[in-house]
Amino acid sequence: MGRAFLRLLISKETELRRRYDIRWRLAGVATRRNGWVADPDGLNPIAILNGHFPPHPSHQAQDFREWLERCRADLLFEASSLNAQTGQPAIDHLRTALELGAHAITANKGPIVHAFRELIALAQEKKKQFLFESTVMDGVPIFSMFPLGLPVTDLRGFSGVLNSTTNVVLTEVEKGRSFDEAVRRAQTLGVAESDPTADLDGWDAAVKVAALAIVLMGVPVKLEQVQRTGIRELSEEKIRSVRGAGMRYKLVCRAERRGDGADCSVKPELLLASDPLANLEGTSSAIRFDLDVFGLSIVEHNPGIEATGYGMLADFVRAVQL
Ligand SMILES: NC(=O)c1ccc[n+]([C@@H]2O[C@H](COP(=O)([O-])OP(=O)(O)OC[C@H]3O[C@@H](n4cnc5c(N)ncnc54)[C@H](OP(=O)(O)O)[C@@H]3O)[C@@H](O)[C@H]2O)c1
Repeated sequence: MGRAFLRLLISKETELRRRYDIRWRLAGVATRRNGWVADPDGLNPIAILNGHFPPHPSHQAQDFREWLERCRADLLFEASSLNAQTGQPAIDHLRTALELGAHAITANKGPIVHAFRELIALAQEKKKQFLFESTVMDGVPIFSMFPLGLPVTDLRGFSGVLNSTTNVVLTEVEKGRSFDEAVRRAQTLGVAESDPTADLDGWDAAVKVAALAIVLMGVPVKLEQVQRTGIRELSEEKIRSVRGAGMRYKLVCRAERRGDGADCSVKPELLLASDPLANLEGTSSAIRFDLDVFGLSIVEHNPGIEATGYGMLADFVRAVQL
């Protein structure tokens, strides 16, 4: 995901300069295995993409805060692996960036579920942006649409198919692949998390439901309050036989406002072919918002990993222009 974003940043460099007068320099890169590499004068992004990290010790910091201070970065892009239970270490990364006066952009849903209010408050205090568009439906402007694009509406609930891995797996099993082959296909496409358990058991989708309910409905949903069933309970035969009968299983996410709270769930549902959610193929995802004044559906057709990178790129433009 981080690499996809960097590729997009490089390919859009001229456009960013010409259309938005935005220039950027890669002041640091950090990964678990490559350590904390910093150079405020600018690292070579192509070399980094090719896996060449500067070996000189002067480029390496000992911990995250020291690294970010050495980078003297105006903006942090956080794309570490999802920890659904705690949101760490991403929360600490984002908090530190905001404390040091940098905008904080993340693709990681964990911090939204576990620390949204704290991070938004800190961003406001520091007059910086905390943005997270790519956490749900990649580059689709779900979060940016509210509240400006839909003022004075009341979001009563939403439903959708929001996990690409399970959609790819179900689609591939329908075509005759085994469950394991279908999971490998999702990994090849770059949509499966490093540990696909989070996708298959519905954790990724549950985190998305909680994130949407927290941010868009203002309900402080905890992850354990999302009723969650994954797709492992479905047998390959079951998935193929219902397809033969014109129906499809999809991992459906739902939230519905109930008083001050919300009923939230993730579970495989058997959908009729006439249901718009049934027609989603491969990595496609969709959401239907139930607003008090109308219903609104958005479909993202077969995104690749660059679509997630685009969410971060769009946040970048928003952060420096807001
Ligand atoms: N892939 C997608 O389609 C997609 C879509 C939307 C959102 N996201 C979110 O974007 C994030 C990244 O996704 P991904 O698919 O690229 O995940 P990934 O393959 O697991 O890569 C995560 C990256 O974070 C680094 N990392 C993990 N823990 C770290 C730590 N403690 N300190 C520093 N670096 C650490 C890893 O470093 P090493 O490689 O050195 O271990 C790796 O570079 C996740 O939160 C995911 O939920 C992904």
